[in-house]
Amino acid sequence: MYIRKIHLENFRNYTGLDLDVGPSVNIFYGNNAQGKTNIIESIYVGASVASHRTAKDQDLIRFGSDGYKIDLLIACDGGYDTELSAQYKANPKPKRVLRQDGAEIRRISDYIGICNTVIFAPEDLNIVKGAPSARRKFLNTIIMKVSPTYVNLLGEIGRLIEQKNATLKDARFGHSNGDIGSTLDFWDFSIADLSADIILNRYRFARLLSGMAAKHHASISGGKEELSLDYDTIGGTVSVLEGFLSENGVYDDFMAGKLSQGKYGAIKAILSEAVLSKLRSSREYDLDKGISSIGINKDDLNIKLEGLQMRNFSSQGQQRSAALALKLAELEIIRRFVSSTPILLLDDVFSELDSSRRASLVTAMTDAQIFITCTEKEMIAGELEGLIGTNQANYYKVSAGTVIPE
Ligand SMILES: Nc1ncnc2c1ncn2[C@@H]1O[C@H](COP(=O)(O)OP(=O)(O)O)[C@@H](O)[C@H]1O
Ligand SMILES: [Mg+2]
Repeated sequence: MYIRKIHLENFRNYTGLDLDVGPSVNIFYGNNAQGKTNIIESIYVGASVASHRTAKDQDLIRFGSDGYKIDLLIACDGGYDTELSAQYKANPKPKRVLRQDGAEIRRISDYIGICNTVIFAPEDLNIVKGAPSARRKFLNTIIMKVSPTYVNLLGEIGRLIEQKNATLKDARFGHSNGDIGSTLDFWDFSIADLSADIILNRYRFARLLSGMAAKHHASISGGKEELSLDYDTIGGTVSVLEGFLSENGVYDDFMAGKLSQGKYGAIKAILSEAVLSKLRSSREYDLDKGISSIGINKDDLNIKLEGLQMRNFSSQGQQRSAALALKLAELEIIRRFVSSTPILLLDDVFSELDSSRRASLVTAMTDAQIFITCTEKEMIAGELEGLIGTNQANYYKVSAGTVIPE
């Protein structure tokens, strides 16, 4: 699968853009602040309806206009083309419209699985050193790519938690009418049910990531220090889950995504009961504070080097190696579980990698379409062409929101 054409309207510093791109390697070069990253970002947003730089759609709209549009014409593996279109309008009220071949797609989960991308960007460092939300986003993104309906679980639980928080806040200020206890019971029951599914997904992908990231990290760092990941969620639930998997001898089935329906139902019921009892035991505290104090919305991944939390105890160099190992693990998971080869987006990182790392990334992905940004074309052109062959790369000079193909 590869992108043939990119069409932009009022996206970041692009008033309008119509660009044909090549099926192999596309290199965008130019000075700083010209719009190179904006191109990479537009592809990512056009395919996944999320930016790697901002959570606010408003930031993506060109200053002074009131909406953006991204159209991607995609050549699919089956030999046919499809057009994805992601449009966002801020006025008169925020509205997103997603389309495939002109027909509106209402559920985001039906859209984000169509075109898979994996992005490497300077922001990846936040996975290691940033707030827990950066690690949740990393994990969520991977799960969504493998099973797009996961995004519906996140949307639903997000709404429930918001409603529960509103109830807690009202109760705190004495504004509530009716039986608060049974209203909260209702939210908690639904939240616990969804939490169980989310925990099962996050635990599984955190374990998968841990093994793969450790392997990549060993090769990056020469095997000196050991990288590991632990999924950190509502207290006690991970041990309940692990206990179930080992008692039933189904750890491998679970990790392969092949747990029987009966077993899945059983562990889901056990987990949701465990979550519910945790939510109940924090109710008094939550009512006092007016906010949900525990929940999967607080989940984290503990990234450790030699057993020490990297967020608190690591050098920049260690953080960079770990971030790269995590992203390579993401790429490996997508390649293992998603049938079409993902499109690789490399923002600025290419020139930061050493040449053996560059070679291994590119040669592992010779079947993929790759987009690269850099400031100096000469810095990578010769080496790249040595890896992929001459005439395989397309060059584009980016300057002040215009893109000139060479
Ligand atoms: N919403 C926006 N509207 C207009 N211009 C924007 C918007 N967001 C960013 N820019 C501009 O885009 C430029 C940065 O583009 P970027 O692609 O990040 O640069 P680079 O080429 O260094 O990767 C800056 O000049 C910035 O002011
Ligand atoms: Mg940039």
